[in-house]
Amino acid sequence: MQGLVVCLALSVQVLVAEAAGLRRGPPAMYVLGDSILDVGNNNYLPGADVFRANRPYYGIDFPGRIPTGRFSNGFNTADYIAKSMGLVRSPPPYLSLAPNNLSLVLAALTTGVSYASAGAGILDSTNSGKCIPLSRQLEYFNATRAKMLAAAGSPAVTALLSKSIFLVTFGSNDLFVFAAAEQASNRSEAEQQSDAATLFADLFSKYSAAITELYAMGARKFAIINLGVLGCVPAVRVLDAAESCSAGLNQLAAGFDDALRSLLAGLAPRLPGMVYSLADSFGLTQDTFADPEASGYTDIAGACCGSGRLLAEADCMPNSTLCAADRDQHVFWDRYHPSQRASLLTAQAFYDGPPKYTEPINFMQLAQST
Ligand SMILES: *[C@@H]1O[C@H](CO)[C@@H](O)[C@H](O)[C@H]1NC(C)=O
Ligand SMILES: *[C@@H]1O[C@H](CO)[C@@H](O)[C@H](O)[C@H]1NC(C)=O
Ligand SMILES: *[C@@H]1O[C@H](CO)[C@@H](O)[C@H](O)[C@H]1NC(C)=O
Ligand SMILES: *[C@@H]1O[C@H](CO)[C@@H](O)[C@H](O)[C@H]1NC(C)=O
Repeated sequence: MQGLVVCLALSVQVLVAEAAGLRRGPPAMYVLGDSILDVGNNNYLPGADVFRANRPYYGIDFPGRIPTGRFSNGFNTADYIAKSMGLVRSPPPYLSLAPNNLSLVLAALTTGVSYASAGAGILDSTNSGKCIPLSRQLEYFNATRAKMLAAAGSPAVTALLSKSIFLVTFGSNDLFVFAAAEQASNRSEAEQQSDAATLFADLFSKYSAAITELYAMGARKFAIINLGVLGCVPAVRVLDAAESCSAGLNQLAAGFDDALRSLLAGLAPRLPGMVYSLADSFGLTQDTFADPEASGYTDIAGACCGSGRLLAEADCMPNSTLCAADRDQHVFWDRYHPSQRASLLTAQAFYDGPPKYTEPINFMQLAQST
């Protein structure tokens, strides 16, 4: 027992030394966000209403065909971004590590940790009780950091965090919930405009505070993904008789993305040493929809696992129908989430793809910046 404790203490010290600067290799990644990035945190949350991808056919194309909590048929966007940066896959979910301080500290000092949670929003009220909202993801990172500091000391942790990538995306769920509530309460066009302005003020004050808090805790390199073409996810299309996209929801997402661009451009000069890459999921998806064949897609509208029209009238379940076509030919896997192939192409575009999909630099330049 004594020997084991000493040995563990030594291995922590080796990691500490590596973290202090001897470490050559990929940056660690700390991931905060929603279901696009979740790699299993929600599997550890109690409650029947929690959004979980812990059943077939999730993971059907994952090694071993296992459902891991990823909302994908295989790997997700966090995995492919991590792979681009030299990690094996996304760092592990915080809630899988948290019961054991040593596991948590080891992961935090090497690969990083993922706090992402399906359903999460910028607002605590978004899908409350069914996910880990942004505010709690920040608390979990803070708790992780406290344990890193206790194990490795401030200079090493400061150096590690400043070189690491903070991959962040939030906002989709806030807008889905908002749009559904507006619809349910039959708000007029003018009322919706004014409600959206109020919502955005709230969202951006909290998003800005969150980035500033991460910075205060030592984050310097931010890889931030904007909102995609939310009005075109199968779950939204299927609400329309003609299966068209919701122009209203797309407009909201585009408005959010404009405000996010301004937020970051305004924030960076006030936070010395902050570097960021803002990835344009919206623009990439629009371009993909305009020429699906160029990316090998034959279906950009429907899900690949679900039921009913567009396989989008119900969630992906063990009794769902699977799409007839090759899953790689679908942009969407379930009624809200991209397929493994779409996740791969997204990560490639953001890492070192056409310059129009990232600003002011791409994820590769972010990782390599000093
Ligand atoms: C984990 O660390 C916290 C302090 O960071 C401590 O209070 C707790 O007792 C530790 N748990 C174990 C199992 O060592
Ligand atoms: C982080 O945790 C410490 C206590 O451990 C607390 O004083 C501080 O306010 C927390 N910071 C954030 C940003 O949550
Ligand atoms: C919605 O509002 C419009 C006018 O504001 C009204 O004509 C319509 O009946 C309302 N619909 C529902 C379902 O309440
Ligand atoms: C699948 O099973 C669920 C219950 O688990 C049921 O509510 C649903 O109607 C079934 N769907 C289909 C397409 O059979």
